[in-house]
Amino acid sequence: MLLIAFLLIVNSIVAFCDEKIPLKTARKDVWEHNAVASCAAHLNTLNWGFDHEHTAYYALICQYPPAFDSWAMCIQDMINLEVTTETKQVSTFEKSLLYVQVLCSYVDKRSANISLEQYYFGIENGTKFLADIASIEDNTDEIFYHPIKVSVKKLRRLGHAYHGFSRNLDTSQDFGLAICFYFAFVITLISIINFLNFNAFKLLFHKYKLINKFRGRFIIPTLFHKHADYFTFNRYITGLLPTSCEAMMLCGYLILHLIVLFISYEFDPYNIIFKSRGIQVARYFADRTGILAFAHFPLIILFSVRNNLFMHLTGFTYSTFVTLHKWIGRMMILDAMLHGISYSVYAMLNQTFISSNKLSFWRFGVAAIFFGCIIIIMSFGFLRKHYYETFLYTHILMASLFFYSCWKHVEHIGWKDWIISAMVIWITERIFRIARIITFGFPIAKLQTRGEDMIHINIPKNGKQWHCEPGQYVFAYFMDPLIFWQSHPFTVMDLGNEIIIIIKAKTGLTRRLHKKINDAGGNYMMKVSLEGPYGSSAHVHRFDNILIYAGGSGIPGPLMHAIELSKKFSSEMKKRIKLIISARELSFLLSYKNQLFMLENTSIEVLIYITKPRAEPIELDDLSLVSDDYGSRDSVSIFSNSVSEFEQQLSTFATFHNGRPNTTEILKEEFALEGSLAILACTPPAFVDGIRNSTAQLMIYHPEKVVHYFEEYQVW
Ligand SMILES: Cc1cc2nc3c(=O)[nH]c(=O)nc-3n(C[C@H](O)[C@H](O)[C@H](O)COP(=O)(O)OP(=O)(O)OC[C@H]3O[C@@H](n4cnc5c(N)ncnc54)[C@H](O)[C@@H]3O)c2cc1C
Ligand SMILES: NC(=O)c1ccc[n+]([C@@H]2O[C@H](COP(=O)([O-])OP(=O)(O)OC[C@H]3O[C@@H](n4cnc5c(N)ncnc54)[C@H](OP(=O)(O)O)[C@@H]3O)[C@@H](O)[C@H]2O)c1
Repeated sequence: MLLIAFLLIVNSIVAFCDEKIPLKTARKDVWEHNAVASCAAHLNTLNWGFDHEHTAYYALICQYPPAFDSWAMCIQDMINLEVTTETKQVSTFEKSLLYVQVLCSYVDKRSANISLEQYYFGIENGTKFLADIASIEDNTDEIFYHPIKVSVKKLRRLGHAYHGFSRNLDTSQDFGLAICFYFAFVITLISIINFLNFNAFKLLFHKYKLINKFRGRFIIPTLFHKHADYFTFNRYITGLLPTSCEAMMLCGYLILHLIVLFISYEFDPYNIIFKSRGIQVARYFADRTGILAFAHFPLIILFSVRNNLFMHLTGFTYSTFVTLHKWIGRMMILDAMLHGISYSVYAMLNQTFISSNKLSFWRFGVAAIFFGCIIIIMSFGFLRKHYYETFLYTHILMASLFFYSCWKHVEHIGWKDWIISAMVIWITERIFRIARIITFGFPIAKLQTRGEDMIHINIPKNGKQWHCEPGQYVFAYFMDPLIFWQSHPFTVMDLGNEIIIIIKAKTGLTRRLHKKINDAGGNYMMKVSLEGPYGSSAHVHRFDNILIYAGGSGIPGPLMHAIELSKKFSSEMKKRIKLIISARELSFLLSYKNQLFMLENTSIEVLIYITKPRAEPIELDDLSLVSDDYGSRDSVSIFSNSVSEFEQQLSTFATFHNGRPNTTEILKEEFALEGSLAILACTPPAFVDGIRNSTAQLMIYHPEKVVHYFEEYQVW
């Protein structure tokens, strides 16, 4: 159904565009175009016995017959000079009529209405009434009342000047495509590696010491010790850094981008179109940067969408694509700024800066750069971290205004195909999102507060065929008048007939929700919808040893993995599965009590680290949350109503420790075991960064070992 919807959208957009806008930016460096533009520019600079001072720029050559006839002859002569075969010369000349019509359409509709007969008649008439001079080479003071011929030498120079100019437009477009192809290549390569990882080739691929050393040094570690955790220079200068792997991809892109900014220019030594080399450089660079900025449109949207097929193919998380989205966005705005600066320099050198400022395309260009700068400022780490909703809504608003301004900026000149493709991706993805929400529906969920921070949500499935793998997440919508439009990501625990979400209240929506439930006495019924599931579940079951880290509110994903693994593998099977849970207080784990007891009498080794001295006993909640699916009601029913008793019950199958786990030591033990090893982590940011870096270090020391690191913690 979704595919049909997608095809219908594409179809209607294509139909609309076919009518209104050419879908593809035409190649500029073709003789039918170069000849028309160069002859028009040249003839427009001559003095004609026609007053066109207060009319449009091309009024002279479109409306004054001697000038028009000279134009037609000039176009034909240039085409005959530059195009080799006779048949091609004729067809090129006939194709050039379209460009003549386009230029004249800027004057008025009537002027653009030129037939092929009139075009040929221009040549015939021009030849008949040719001025009494052999040919004209350069600007003269003479006023012309008769058609004129342009000299061969001038024709060559004019043609080549325009060829260099329009070639730069085509090259810039090709370089824009090259950037897209770069990402297509990287994604294909990583998809292949990802595919190899999860089939029989896996061991083969991961057994090479060199590959493992490379992974340990360049793929897995953080770049400057931080990735999930914000780097902080001071309170305001803070942000997220890519991993080494993301940095490598970005480096390739940045280098390619830098190269394509500066290569393959063909300047005109005679300064025919532009008065000096400086003006040429400014204009060519402005065109290059402008087109490159536009080429980022599809990528920037593609990497920001939640429903992204590439996530499944590459195994990359959403946060990796968001990292790409951010860097591509930064480069796009940089390109746009360079475009604006170089175009301003061009206009100043040309002394057209003030008049250009009055043109609508210019004003929309300035507006686009302004909106782009606001997007960059509003995306600073500090705002994202502390005012996420403000960032998000200004981001969407400014991005819409940016798109609109860019569209208006190029409305009559081309390159709209980049914007259209981005819009197609965006609209299709929004439809997918809506379809996911509708598919899930709006069941009434039970929301309960647990202590000062925790919210426990039970959502009935009502017999719906909706399934979520361990570690997958959803975007939750709470049907309350004050928050219904917000969607926040949460990891879900799918218990068959119901879904559980456990939230640690922060300062925004989650805090408001906590207060609302508390105000209602700790229990609240509310309509909730889930958009998802998103993300792919880590294939940890394929490994001989599995080490799972869970910390704080990051427990749901790892815990569900452990439960699924315990169901899949009995104690007789030669798999060692270790679950390490870290929480500030034992009472925190009460939120997960039913799921924790599902690990009783299983092969999973559970280690619980309590990092704060334990507080006073807490009343336990009702036991009705226990799911029959997992057959653990009995084990829970025996446990009494205090935290210490909870600990006692847990200690029948879990080992308790005080203080933080020593990640490196635990990892070293696991690396020393026989067989392959999967490490999965969803813990607080600094914690996951520590696990990631220790794993990478140990991979360098033990390159013979087959190891895979899965990170379920995400931040964007
Ligand atoms: C994949 C994923 C799964 C998660 N699963 C859980 C879970 O199971 N339980 C749990 O308690 N928390 C989970 N979180 C964290 C949870 O999404 C945030 O704590 C929540 O969105 C905060 O909402 P708030 O308005 O109260 O945030 P604020 O107090 O305004 O912000 C707190 C932090 O959350 C970030 N944040 C806020 N809104 C969003 C958003 N829409 N998208 C991404 N980040 C946001 C902010 O940048 C900030 O760093 C998960 C996050 C991700 C990315
Ligand atoms: N899929 C996802 O992306 C996802 C899913 C769920 C939750 N989350 C996010 O995950 C985060 C979990 O944080 P939280 O506030 O719930 O956790 P927390 O309560 O701050 O910490 C949980 C435990 O981890 C320990 N810890 C913290 N940093 C450590 C480190 N560097 N090394 C060793 N142990 C460390 C803590 O010890 P101390 O007491 O000593 O600090 C504590 O015992 C939240 O930001 C939540 O939004 C993400």
